[in-house]
Amino acid sequence: MNPLNHVAIIMDGNGRWGLKKRNNRNYGHTQGLKTLEKIVNHSIEKKIQYLTLFAFSTENWKRPNSEINFLFSLLNKFLKKKIKYLHNKHIKLKFIGSRKKLNSSIISNISNAEKLTKKNNQIQVNIALNYGSRDEILESFKKIKKNGLNLTKSNLENNLYTKKIPDPDILIRTGNTHRLSNFMLWQIAYTEIFFVEKLWPDFNIRDFDKIINNFKKINRRFGAINEE
Ligand code: FPP
Repeated sequence: MNPLNHVAIIMDGNGRWGLKKRNNRNYGHTQGLKTLEKIVNHSIEKKIQYLTLFAFSTENWKRPNSEINFLFSLLNKFLKKKIKYLHNKHIKLKFIGSRKKLNSSIISNISNAEKLTKKNNQIQVNIALNYGSRDEILESFKKIKKNGLNLTKSNLENNLYTKKIPDPDILIRTGNTHRLSNFMLWQIAYTEIFFVEKLWPDFNIRDFDKIINNFKKINRRFGAINEE
């Protein structure tokens, strides 16, 4: 049985779900946030140590302003309403991605959430916000160069947003789309990938458990061969 420490998720399909139900993409994001909360709670029950969720990519700025503003205000409201609850459940929150384009209220809310929950150890939930893997890798190279460090694997990893976080064991992408969309390209070298047809708001705990059970049975070789 494979140990499971880290699950990463591309929560795709909110927009399509919202359009189908109410002709409104943002309704899909609201429901998507509810699914996110259920999956965080279930991950705690499953004793998963790290959960990384792709909330907003460096490419998502190409969407209409109304949708971008809605997503950030959803996050702001969520943090305001739920941060104490999350803290009481000993959840550690970390935001990965570039803060350069984020507005000051988002920056202060996410920094405060990180500070408050820094010492919690029930689960670490990484929210990828304004995240792009190519930028992340490029920035790491730049820092190595600036600090006069040797170009080694460990120096590269120590300058990624995911410094000190183990690589994901599982990557899930919902929404019946089979691509990685610039998400954790370095970190998923040996990750088991599961593509799910369902749109993210329809994804549930049973779907999650099914993936976990299948993962546990996989013969992970990490490039080696082994006798079974
Ligand atoms: C992808 O679906 C989803 C997103 C870009 C946003 C994910 C956000 C949430 C789950 C809500 C929580 C929000 C925050 C900021 C924490 P899509 O919109 O690309 O769906 P589509 O492929 O159907 O268009």
